[in-house]
Amino acid sequence: MFSFQLLVVLSSATTLACAAPTSRDSACDTSEAVMDLPTNQTALVSPSTAPLYVALGVGIQNYSCSSTTAAYSSIGAVASLFDLSCLDQTSGFANIQTTAFNLWSAAPASLVASSVGGQVGAPNLLGYHYFVIGPSGSLSPEWDFTSTGTNAGNSSAFVIGAKVGDIASPTAPSTDVDWLALNDVEGSLASKIFRIDTVGGQPPTSCVAGSADISVKYTAKYYLY
Ligand SMILES: *[C@@H]1O[C@H](CO)[C@@H](O)[C@H](O)[C@H]1NC(C)=O
Ligand SMILES: *[C@@H]1O[C@H](CO)[C@@H](O)[C@H](O)[C@H]1NC(C)=O
Ligand SMILES: *[C@@H]1O[C@H](CO)[C@@H](O)[C@H](O)[C@H]1NC(C)=O
Repeated sequence: MFSFQLLVVLSSATTLACAAPTSRDSACDTSEAVMDLPTNQTALVSPSTAPLYVALGVGIQNYSCSSTTAAYSSIGAVASLFDLSCLDQTSGFANIQTTAFNLWSAAPASLVASSVGGQVGAPNLLGYHYFVIGPSGSLSPEWDFTSTGTNAGNSSAFVIGAKVGDIASPTAPSTDVDWLALNDVEGSLASKIFRIDTVGGQPPTSCVAGSADISVKYTAKYYLY
């Protein structure tokens, strides 16, 4: 009796939170999701279709220190990607990148990126973001859903991107990494990828030549179309 009642409660809660489940890993409908982009720029243009996925990224940006210019340059990133499709303004969607960053940046070493989503109301892990050698032979960003959720075992569920648009963070460009638009160059998970609403991730403006690589924590929203 008890477990029957519990099931009823759980299933009605699920129905309320997830009005229109899709066959994809997104637990809820993304058809109304729209990126909030600055209007004073043309480098990032929202597609006219709805996104396939809206994700919170939690991870690190890696940099190496140039021995000649004493400046940091990007050598990749690693992040966990959490489904945001079931969140709306009342459940913290607008500021989730800040909520997650505050937790992530203050975290002890024992807190791993893949557990942050569960602490900010976005427990559904869609996949991972990291860098690989892409089809052009250069280090390229990948979004990989092949080992998670309903895509587990689907070797096509990834996308490697090439950057086609880049703007400084509209709010804090010295601390928050740029907002980006990328096009698919390999894989069939998505044809366009956007990184927006970034928090953190920028390296210090200079470094002592010869110093070791660094990792800088960041969060962002990723929209996959
Ligand atoms: C980034 O740095 C971390 C160590 O801080 C390392 O584990 C990871 O493999 C690095 N990833 C890339 C893409 O450089
Ligand atoms: C657009 O506006 C933002 C925020 O007001 C500002 O930081 C940025 O420099 C502006 N960008 C351009 C290209 O004018
Ligand atoms: C595998 O993933 C790709 C990319 O998301 C998708 O187009 C395809 O339908 C998936 N295949 C299966 C069997 O789910």
